Amino acid sequence: MYIRQLHLYNYRNYDRLTLAPHPGVNLFFGQNGAGKTNLLEAVHYCAVGRSHRTPYDREAVRRGEESAFCGVTVCRAGAEAEIAVRLMPGEGRKKQVFIDRKRAPRLSALMGQLRVVCFSPEDLSLVREGPAGRRRYLDMMISQMNPAYFMALQTYQEALAQRRFILKECRRQGRTEVPDDLTAVYEEQMARSCAVILPERRKMAEALTPVAAEKYLGISGREGEKFGVRYAACLEEGVEIVPEALRRLKENRPEDMARGETAFGPHREDLALTLYGKEMRLYASQGQIRTAALALKLAQFACTERLTGEKPVLLLDDVMSELDLGRRQSLLKEISGAQTFVTCTDESDLAGCEDLRAYRVTLTENLLACVTETRAGDAAEEEEGGNVLEEPVFE
Ligand SMILES: Nc1ncnc2c1ncn2[C@@H]1O[C@H](COP(=O)(O)OP(=O)(O)OP(=O)(O)O)[C@@H](O)[C@H]1O
Ligand SMILES: [Mg+2]
Repeated sequence: MYIRQLHLYNYRNYDRLTLAPHPGVNLFFGQNGAGKTNLLEAVHYCAVGRSHRTPYDREAVRRGEESAFCGVTVCRAGAEAEIAVRLMPGEGRKKQVFIDRKRAPRLSALMGQLRVVCFSPEDLSLVREGPAGRRRYLDMMISQMNPAYFMALQTYQEALAQRRFILKECRRQGRTEVPDDLTAVYEEQMARSCAVILPERRKMAEALTPVAAEKYLGISGREGEKFGVRYAACLEEGVEIVPEALRRLKENRPEDMARGETAFGPHREDLALTLYGKEMRLYASQGQIRTAALALKLAQFACTERLTGEKPVLLLDDVMSELDLGRRQSLLKEISGAQTFVTCTDESDLAGCEDLRAYRVTLTENLLACVTETRAGDAAEEEEGGNVLEEPVFE
């Protein structure tokens, strides 16, 4: 799949922008703070309805404006779809999703329309930090292939929050027991969501494990350095999920109430990473951490392609400058054939890549981003006029 057009309106430091990217590699270069990451972030919004760097939609709305808009026209297997997200954090309605210009009732409608894999320097936290980032990595990957999974996650999160609130209230009122009729309905929703979430996570982790190990080896070149990915599940394989989850939740009520947290559930799971069988976070060197993070993302790319039959769109934010020439070239080889959006501070950072379209991103006097095409790439003849259809940004 690839993006044929991209539109931004009041998005971060963009006033208006319409861009017709190359189906291959698109390089965005320019000084720090110009708006390169902002552009990639907007593509990420169109894929999964959230930023890759902040959980707060408000930040993506241009300063002084009420709402922001980002939209893409995606070509997949001969068909096209127009996907757009409007962020309006001020009005309590956090965001609206449009598919082919029609308002979709749920955010989950976005999932699978445009699939992306995003590489950024923050990927190191996948390895270095706690399980939350790894769960998000797994959840975003599965959600992009399975909207029902995303809906189950949302239902789970809402029910979890409700149950937590009730337990907190019970504790505040000095109760020693939690009345069944207060929490049972939420526990039922949580258990039913588990029946969707757990098998999908297990299946995806199993698909990822060998691929991640192979990608790790491809980068490190060291046979003995075994990278392991293991799904640390909240329920053993083979148990009947709904009754078992209900039992655990009910049993845990007093303890959950006392501790103010929920001990059981998919929100406590992990994708455990190991090197030589030892926990990676505590054991690996900087270089090994970097290699593992890259291997996880490459595995996501490979598994998404294998499971959907289409290459996802790649977002490479600031990762090139962190890789040595050999790793840069092997990364470009791995991802060849996929539409790629790359940011660099210098155009020469992608010197090894022959066919690409390059854009310079600069700041105008009023600190708005301005995108100028500096190199068209091979597919240019097919298009009429310039590839940057930018409206004037000066007023
Ligand atoms: N909501 C907003 N409204 C207006 N401007 C914003 C908003 N959010 C961020 N910016 C501006 O966007 C710029 C940052 O853009 P971005 O992160 O895309 O930079 P970059 O080109 O990726 O830089 P670097 O090379 O340092 O990574 C900053 O100048 C910041 O002030
Ligand atoms: Mg940046």
